[in-house]
Amino acid sequence: MPTQTAPPVTATHDYSVAMRLWHWANAALVSGQLLTILFQKVIVNAKQAVPEFQAAITKGGGTLSAQQGRAVAHVISERIWTWHVWLGVALAAFWLFWTVMQALDPAGRRFGARLRAATQRYKLAAPAEHAAARHVLLAKLTYAAFYLFITIMVVTGLALIFADDLPWLGSLEHTVKEVHNVTMYLIIGYIVLHVGGVVWADIYDDRGLISRMVSGDDPRTPDHV
Ligand code: HEM
Ligand code: HEM
Repeated sequence: MPTQTAPPVTATHDYSVAMRLWHWANAALVSGQLLTILFQKVIVNAKQAVPEFQAAITKGGGTLSAQQGRAVAHVISERIWTWHVWLGVALAAFWLFWTVMQALDPAGRRFGARLRAATQRYKLAAPAEHAAARHVLLAKLTYAAFYLFITIMVVTGLALIFADDLPWLGSLEHTVKEVHNVTMYLIIGYIVLHVGGVVWADIYDDRGLISRMVSGDDPRTPDHV
């Protein structure tokens, strides 16, 4: 019976140009989406500001009915939603880019292959390497979770865009919004864990990890020694 050996660790540190481009564009767009929600629901919160609009107009000698105030609030919030929708469409395009990249990448670089390699390495790791292999596998599982969350966000986001035009989608709008909403919290959780995790790893056990996601160079490869 052939003996099984753990696949090499280096395969997981090979960030292609396409991967790095996707990573940073995706991170910027996800952050942009979270910012639009921060403005919509907290900083501007136009609906809650209606009494303030009325007070400001009254101070200037005019009058603003609650209905007029709500109309103004609607204009402001629609402007923010327009940004959300266009950033969302860009995010959907990058999701497609990621999917095509997975199909075109050499087999060993695809996420599914890297996840399987990490699982196999964990199963076959010698006792001394067990903790490190478990750590790598856990990191990969968080990435798998993120890919699931972003897929849900893109699908539900597109459904919300078309909900007004397609009656069958319109009837699902409330549920779709709930799923979209809840997934946002899962994404926030992922970002906190991820950014904390990579900064920690870069400082304590994987020097240069973040700069490899910027430059793609692995300082541990023989070329750089
Ligand atoms: C919204 C923010 C972000 C999102 C959604 C995000 C998402 C991801 C995903 C999905 C991966 C896995 C790539 C893969 O192996 O298939 C990844 C890897 C990585 N990210 Fe981020 N990222 C974000 C922000 C950041 C930031 C701010 C940094 C740097 C401080 C960073 C540094 C890295 C590094 C170094 C890796 C490679 C880690 C490894 O090989 O295990 N990311 N990111
Ligand atoms: C990380 C990514 C995203 C986050 C955090 C996010 C978050 C949210 C939140 C919290 C809402 C409010 C839901 C409610 O009113 O209960 C919302 C609405 C919406 N989102 Fe997203 N979203 C993201 C991605 C997307 C994408 C990719 C698209 C489109 C492809 C999209 C399109 C929409 C639309 C059309 C609405 C409804 C706007 C309205 O009520 O007029 N979102 N989003």
